[in-house]
Amino acid sequence: MEDVAGRVLIDHALEAAKNAHAPYSKFGVGAAVLLEDGTIVPGTNFENASYGLSLCAETVALAATNVAGRFKDVVAIGIVGGAITKTGLEGDTPIYPCGRCRQILNEAADMGRRDITVYCGSADGAIVRRHLLSELLPFAFGPGDLGIS
Ligand code: THU
Repeated sequence: MEDVAGRVLIDHALEAAKNAHAPYSKFGVGAAVLLEDGTIVPGTNFENASYGLSLCAETVALAATNVAGRFKDVVAIGIVGGAITKTGLEGDTPIYPCGRCRQILNEAADMGRRDITVYCGSADGAIVRRHLLSELLPFAFGPGDLGIS
């Protein structure tokens, strides 16, 4: 059965990716964070001439979620990425969040006291894979390890 939340999040992520600022890698990434009340917060990757200082789409979406005071309310995220071409993003492989973004997702999961669903989509929109953050980042280091609960 089609996962409606996953489809909607990947569609929002694809829309967000149109505004990716990625002139260096020419790889556009879009993310869409789902909050418990149904709000969707988008993000794109945001590169700059000092390559290593670039921000990932998931990080941008999660930071925007925090700015809105909603960091505890994250239930899911959809991610999509591919080569930027004249006609849009190209790619038939789902992309997965990088290690740093998994750690930031773990912070949101811990603050909200729930696991987060992670939908990984292909740029052509054909594939949407559903995962749990706990699968993608097992044995995570988190606030509890610093005595913060
Ligand atoms: N990127 C993301 O936005 N999210 C990820 O999880 C992996 C990589 C971006 C960073 C950079 O702008 C481009 O993809 C190529 O690495």
